[in-house]
Amino acid sequence: MATVNDLLLRHSELSPASDTALLDTELLLCHSLSVDRTWLKTWPDKELPAADSQHFEQLFKRRLEGEPVAFIVGTQGFWTLDLGVSPHTLIPRPETELLVEAALELDLPDQSLVLDLGTGTGAIALALASEHPSWQLTAVDVQPQAVALAEQNRSQCQLDNVQIYQSDWFTAVANRQPQAKFNLIVSNPPYIEVDDAHLFEGDVRFEPASALVSGTDGLDDLKIVVGQSSGFLQPAGWLIVEHGHEQGEVVRELFNDAGFVLVETRQDYNQMDRITLGRLQD
Ligand SMILES: C[S@@+](CC[C@H](N)C(=O)[O-])C[C@H]1O[C@@H](n2cnc3c(N)ncnc32)[C@H](O)[C@@H]1O
Repeated sequence: MATVNDLLLRHSELSPASDTALLDTELLLCHSLSVDRTWLKTWPDKELPAADSQHFEQLFKRRLEGEPVAFIVGTQGFWTLDLGVSPHTLIPRPETELLVEAALELDLPDQSLVLDLGTGTGAIALALASEHPSWQLTAVDVQPQAVALAEQNRSQCQLDNVQIYQSDWFTAVANRQPQAKFNLIVSNPPYIEVDDAHLFEGDVRFEPASALVSGTDGLDDLKIVVGQSSGFLQPAGWLIVEHGHEQGEVVRELFNDAGFVLVETRQDYNQMDRITLGRLQD
């Protein structure tokens, strides 16, 4: 019979394909045994029933074939939340937590209205809603399956201050909330160039183009979001967007052209340009 440690040692087989081979193996083993990582560390010599080892082998094989761990186990941690994922939208990334941090640092009213454009799993909206129960959040996505997933995550997290519906960027927002002027708009839109070689590598291969690709220069959606946000913001309202690491300068130009002030790009933990924010005039 294989022990916990025997199965964890399999991580070396993943090393060429994954930068996080040991963590991936631990998460797959946790999922197949329904235990947490502390349990694995506490019981390294525990002998496992054949059925549990076989379940692990099935999951491990999928990871060896390149499938992201989040799709295999069905969830991904983001901020303090455990979110359901699906192949219809992006798996939330740790870099996007930078956008959440930046939003939480702003000096916004207690009763703020916040809009999350392209919500996917609901990651950004749900993280903000969990930190500020007095904020009212609207989260939209063009993909109906993403809207359903975000709603499922909202319900699972028991967050009543978020409404989620389908919208092609601002189109349905303008119809459903015609009077709404938001204090903050946040968005992590698709921003990858259509022929970017990264689309054919690693976990990204399993995610939909609708969540990743935005025209020949990756800027089609950022232009819409930045260009149209001022019409939906309160005076002195803020916009924060995530973007590619080579897009900081051009995104700052988009903000300046759209009338934003205090425009600033911040870098992620790898010192790469990752988010840009700006405020409308008073
Ligand atoms: C990069 S993913 C971000 C998902 C999520 N906000 C996150 O940070 O994990 C971009 C999301 O934008 C959505 N999207 C793409 N085009 C859109 C559009 N025209 N209107 C609204 N959402 C759109 C995609 O379906 C996808 O869920």
